Formats: sequence, C-alpha cells, structure tokens
Amino acid sequence: MTSLKFSFSPSAPAFKKDLVFVLGVHEPSNSLQLTKGTVDTSSLAKQQLEQLDVSAKFESITKIAAPNSAVYALIGLGKELKKVTTDNYRELGGAIARNLKLFTEAVIDLGKLDKVQTQALIEGIQLGNYEFFGKKSTNSIKASKLAKLVIVSAQKFSATELRQIEALTEAVNQTKNLVNLPPNEIYPASFVKQVTAAVKNLPVKVTVWDEKALAKDGFGGILAVGMGSSRPPRLVKIVYQPKGAKKHLALVGKGITFDTGGLSLKPAESMVGMKYDMTGAATCFQSVLAIAKLGLPIKVTGWLCLAENMPSGTAQRPDDVIRIRNGKTVEVLNTDAEGRLVLADGLSAAAEEKPDLIVDVATLTGAATIALGNRYAGLMGESSAVNDLDAAAKLAGELLWPMPLPEELRTILNSDVADIANVKIGNRAGGMLVGGQFLREFVPLEIPWAHLDIAGPAANAGSAYGYTPKGATGVMVRTLVMAAKSMSSNK
Ligand code: BES
Ligand code: MN
Ligand code: ZN
Repeated sequence: MTSLKFSFSPSAPAFKKDLVFVLGVHEPSNSLQLTKGTVDTSSLAKQQLEQLDVSAKFESITKIAAPNSAVYALIGLGKELKKVTTDNYRELGGAIARNLKLFTEAVIDLGKLDKVQTQALIEGIQLGNYEFFGKKSTNSIKASKLAKLVIVSAQKFSATELRQIEALTEAVNQTKNLVNLPPNEIYPASFVKQVTAAVKNLPVKVTVWDEKALAKDGFGGILAVGMGSSRPPRLVKIVYQPKGAKKHLALVGKGITFDTGGLSLKPAESMVGMKYDMTGAATCFQSVLAIAKLGLPIKVTGWLCLAENMPSGTAQRPDDVIRIRNGKTVEVLNTDAEGRLVLADGLSAAAEEKPDLIVDVATLTGAATIALGNRYAGLMGESSAVNDLDAAAKLAGELLWPMPLPEELRTILNSDVADIANVKIGNRAGGMLVGGQFLREFVPLEIPWAHLDIAGPAANAGSAYGYTPKGATGVMVRTLVMAAKSMSSNK
C-alpha cells in the first residue's frame, strides 16, 4: 500500500502508454451511455460497447484499449446518473482502486462532481487501495502499483485538505492492519506496543494497567477474562486533550485478542475468525489517533480493554462471581460472554470521568449477525446518544441500525448470588439486546451512552466490494470521528 498522489485538472491529459482513463457508464432508457467529460471517446462507438460486454451495473469495470496504447476503464454507475449517491462515489472509488492495481497512473473523469462527491471518491480510492498480504511468500504477491491519480474536475483540494482526508482513511486502513494480524502476533502486551509506537509525535497520552495494576485498581472483569491466558491482560487509556476543548468523548473498545470462549469453549468452526474479537479496541484506538491528527477541538479518551480468552487451569470458571471496577458483582455463567465483562470495567472507568458521551464498540454477540446480517452495526443505548451516532453514521456513509433495549430483558439477568449474571443459560431470544442491557448496568443513567455491536461488519468473509476488502473492514472509525466532529462544533 503506497501513499497515493492526487492532482486535479479541468481537462484530461493526452493518451499515452499505460495511462488508464476511467469513465462512467450509465444506461438511461436502456442504452449505454458514457458520462460526459473531457476524455476523447470517439474511438468508442456506442454499439461497440454492448458487443464488448460493457455494463452499467454498479461498480462493474470493463477495460478497453484506447489510442496510443492507453486504456479505457469503463465503470458502471447504475441505470440513472441522478441516483448515484455520495456514498456510491466512495464505493466507486474503492472499486477503481481495487481493479486498476496494475496501473501506476489513472485519470478519472466521471463527469461533473461537486466537492463532497469528489471527496467521497478520493476517500474510496484510499480505502480501496488497502491490501493485506500477511506472511504470504513475496513471489505470490501482486501488490498495487497505483501511485498517481488525476481527477478531472473543476474542484480543487488544498494539500491540507488532502492530508485530512488521508488522516481519516489511514486510520481506517491501520485498523484493518491491526485486526488482520494473526493472534499469535497480537496479544495484550503486543497490542500495547503498537499503541505506544503509534502515538509517538502525537499530542496523545497513554496510560497502561498491567495485571498487577488491574488488580490493585479493581478491574475484576478484564482480570477474570484474561487470567486463563499465559499472556496477561492490559487496560490502555489513551487521551487527546487539546487546549480549550469543551466537550469530552469517551470510546471504550472490546479488545479480546483471541476468543476461544474460555472454559465454555467454542466449537472448532465458531472459533475460526475470533482474532477479529479485538476490532472494537483497534477501532477506538485509531479513532483517537485520527481525531488527534485532525486536531479536532474536543477531548477524547480511548479505553482499550485487552485480554485473551483462553481455557486453562487458571481460567475463570462458569459459576465464578467477580467484582467490576464500579463495585457491582457479576455471576459468570458462560465464560464465552466475555466481551461484556471487560467492557463493564472499561465503561465504569470511562464513566468516572463524567464525559459528555460514552460510545463502546464491540464484536459482542453472534446474535447481532442473526438480526442484522454482516453489513450493519447494531446501535443501542440512551436515546440522545443513539440519535447522535445515527446522524454521524449517515454523514460518514456507514451502515448501522438502531435497536431497542427492552426493559424486560434485564430481569432475565437477575442472579441469586450477584448483582447481575452475564447470561441467562438457555436463552437465545434477543441476544444482542441482552448484551446491551448488561452493559447499561455499568453506565450511570445521567451519562449519554451508545453501544455499537459490530460482530457482523467487523470482518468481511466474502469477496471485496466497493471500498470494503476481504477480512477486517475498519468499520465505524469514520462514524466515530464524525461524531467527534459534530460534538466539537455544537456548543
Ligand atoms: N466474540 C463473540 C461474538 C461473535 C460471534 C463475534 C461471532 C463475531 C462473530 C462473543 O464473545 C461471544 O462469544 N458471544 C456469545 C454470547 C453468548 C455466550 C451469550 C455468542 O454470541 O454466542
Ligand atoms: Mn465469546
Ligand atoms: Zn468475544
């Protein structure tokens, strides 16, 4: 993944070898039509397009030879040009970056775009250009060569504006990088190393609780979940507090670096993919970094609750009773409902500082995927916080769906021996909402709080689409940064 250089020109450059010209195709009244721009398309007669299998299907790309050994890349915009939304331009940008990797330079002329649409296109290109090869042997890697993009547009972006777009997309891409790491490499202590390395040169303060400090300060949830692993748990607090900040946003992330289920062990098939269980923490971490890089006038505190959930002779047992940071006791009936235990500590700690808004982000329940599929995050919480997050997601172009927190579901977590149980054995109804009800216990009612269950969209098991790659997706970073932006501009 190289850093991309963008330039803007009111007219297209001349055709030359290896230069790819991206044009849009739509299909008003059932005949293919190219977007009107400044690229010479005289060699593309209309009937030829159909014969060449060019399609207006959204995101489809057909490459055709152009004069002087240049190439046309015709990208489908759907039937009607006027139905292409701002978010669609972000997706188109992603498809362009993913499909034109073998070119170093691309000219993009999708007709007249306004500044917001152009920004979405740039974001999409930067997100779509993400690649993760892990430990693949180098000879099997076809890395993107894309380096220069000329956007044919009357719009201009200053170097500062481009840097800001990049700060945001970089945070999303770094979230993917962290989340895609295998769990033998990323564990609580190595996650902490990533954090301390990344904040160098940024006005961000990091505090780390190791297992001793966690015990001393009463973080019984993080400790209990982490105690089955030879790699001990950590809590990380990361603070960005610019001078004059009036509002305070707290982000609490579930950071289970691997979730075996603990003694309530997961079956083999369900354990695969549980490296993604630290996505919430990675998301909160990178959102704080982006907010700091953008210099938003708001205080942000990230709370990363890091533990590895393993079965062993030192692991917590079903039937254990633990004490959370805020003093409440929890009867642990299923050690696989561990996310809520670490978040209970994180939420308690966040609430002590009385921020203006707390948002927690977690791959909390498989039930979230049953309810909402794999593209929508579930949003729960106090209504003003839910509205703020909903609005931020719409502005950022991310998918989430507000869900209720029915009061009667709280009573099923009543325990005979503790203040609350972490599950009700045998209950499958409303699993995502029960998770939300549990977390609600650890936030005082007067603090606006929202809970994002990202079990579905955190990772993409299918093939890439739009700007979303296979594997880790980096969802909700853009929404959280947008929420911070809105908070900092509303008095
Ligand atoms: N990390 C899982 C949730 C999950 C499942 C995320 C599938 C992504 C895909 C979580 O810790 C978990 O195991 N939840 C249990 C809760 C249950 C025991 C109440 C679940 O969903 O089965
Ligand atoms: Mn679990
Ligand atoms: Zn989990």
